[in-house]
Amino acid sequence: MCGIIGYKGNKNAVEVVLNGLKDLEYRGYDSWGIASLNGGISLVKDVGKVSLITLEDLKLDPSKMAIAHTRWSTHGSVNQTNAHPHFSGNENFALVQNGIVENYQELRGELKEKGYQFNTETDTEVIVRLIEDKLKITNNLKEAIMTAFNKLKGRNAIVVINKENQTIYAARNGSPLMLGIGEDEFILASDPSPLLKHTKNIIFLDDYELVTIGDTYHIYNLQTNQEIQKEIQTLTWDPEQAKKGDYPHFMIKEIMEQKHTIKQALVQDPELIKNLAKEINLAFGVYAVGCGTAGKVCLAGTYAFSDIAKKHINFAFGSEFPNFHHFIQSRSLLIVVSQSGETADTLEAMETVQEKNGKVVSLVNVMGSTIMRKSDYSLLINAGPEIAVCSTKATTSQLALMILLAYAAADRYDEGMVLLKNTADQVGLMLNEEFNNSLQQLAEKIKDQRDIYIIGRGANYAIALEAAIKIQEVSYIHAEGFAGGELKHGPIALIEENTPCIAFVANDETKADILSNAMEIKSRGGYIIGVAPENNEVFNYWIKVPDVSYASPIVNIIPIQILAYYLAIARDLDPDKPRNLAKSVTVK
Ligand code: F6R
Repeated sequence: MCGIIGYKGNKNAVEVVLNGLKDLEYRGYDSWGIASLNGGISLVKDVGKVSLITLEDLKLDPSKMAIAHTRWSTHGSVNQTNAHPHFSGNENFALVQNGIVENYQELRGELKEKGYQFNTETDTEVIVRLIEDKLKITNNLKEAIMTAFNKLKGRNAIVVINKENQTIYAARNGSPLMLGIGEDEFILASDPSPLLKHTKNIIFLDDYELVTIGDTYHIYNLQTNQEIQKEIQTLTWDPEQAKKGDYPHFMIKEIMEQKHTIKQALVQDPELIKNLAKEINLAFGVYAVGCGTAGKVCLAGTYAFSDIAKKHINFAFGSEFPNFHHFIQSRSLLIVVSQSGETADTLEAMETVQEKNGKVVSLVNVMGSTIMRKSDYSLLINAGPEIAVCSTKATTSQLALMILLAYAAADRYDEGMVLLKNTADQVGLMLNEEFNNSLQQLAEKIKDQRDIYIIGRGANYAIALEAAIKIQEVSYIHAEGFAGGELKHGPIALIEENTPCIAFVANDETKADILSNAMEIKSRGGYIIGVAPENNEVFNYWIKVPDVSYASPIVNIIPIQILAYYLAIARDLDPDKPRNLAKSVTVK
């Protein structure tokens, strides 16, 4: 949800922030902008994809200091004026924001009454004018930023470039911001991807912290103005992992990486897993919470805990969870799942639990992310950078850890490890050229369909929901997932001659019933695509997957990720950057 970046150092800052924006583009891609300091501040911004822009296109002189932004619009339409950075009236400073100023209307009203003019429809311009207003009192930009920032409501992070003292200021509350410390250079960004090329030494800023970057950096508590010392951490990701390599798109690269990412997810401290399982067993009320794909993993997790550990776990999407706050108490435990570790709705769910002194266990991919740092316990899923907007490899790693926790909660950790290691091996064998080609052919066959339905039972009901969002987000075909037994209660009316319906038929106790549901659809003209270890006469098309008992959600979602990818390709769409979406959803 918007990417922000700032650089001060010996390299050409314009080039660094332009390349950084390309790394951050998956956070938002409707417009972009750069402000560079070279005597005065020069500003270039435009609508469209920054990935298409070259250094020459910018026509900016090389400089040592610049800030930049890639936008996923929240307030104000997508146009050049609304794109960030936004200038102060005297062009002494320019500012970019990631997040939302929830009280922007109120602040804007107050500032208008004081005579300030607004040139854009954005909430971000309110921050600029507010800083200008505070400057009239203090004449000190750092203090003005602090006072203005403390008046903002909502989750946001800002970066400001100042002409007069050649300093970059950045502050955060709720939206991610980190500082990379290289040799004679400093780089600020919303996530680690643009930092990797320059340094692995990172300081993760916490809420209500402000950093100034002049000759060196200083970090302050935004509320007390006290300088603070923070630990420098080392990133474990490799810059090569964030590159496309020989693949045409990140999505297919990340799908293929599942040959080894599931194994990597299992590289955990066994004692920690067992202790977390104990915490889960002892808790009074356990909730699994995530958004989008991560939410589907949580739902699948509730079935895993029921089937394997005979343990009841509640599920809610992050945005819905606060409705259950009445039932949270100090013995409650929240299992949070998030690739980015920055999703605002998920963070809000965590806050709901932490306000009542409950505990949070998180499964996250991005090291140092807010969710990781705010959790009582956190497991890194070790999937490496996931760049495509559509989550793929993170999903199967999250599923593997959920299933492992369920086995540990049943005191069957070793058995769980054997199953999951075998599943990881089976995925390695399944992901081959022949498999992908067959799915590409299937995509060609169904690419012009208006609707695709997906059914599953038990944990594979969650996978039916996940399969639907994979197809929706990259192919823009209407896809909908249902619990197999629910179709006859209404949705079956939608089935017409040749409507594709994907059925997940795991070799478990749900098999007979889901096959009956598939038959009910076939009898009404549906075209049944069975995802199963064994063929069945009800299938019009069979996608063979390994038989891995309780790990079936892992092997079942992978072919649909591939199918979704090839549907996007067949429909001439960019699978890495689906319309209207952003990778990291840091607004509510
Ligand atoms: C779908 C997708 C989203 C995310 C959701 C949560 O492919 O990527 O649905 O899963 O926005 O994001 P994280 O996992 O970062 O909390």
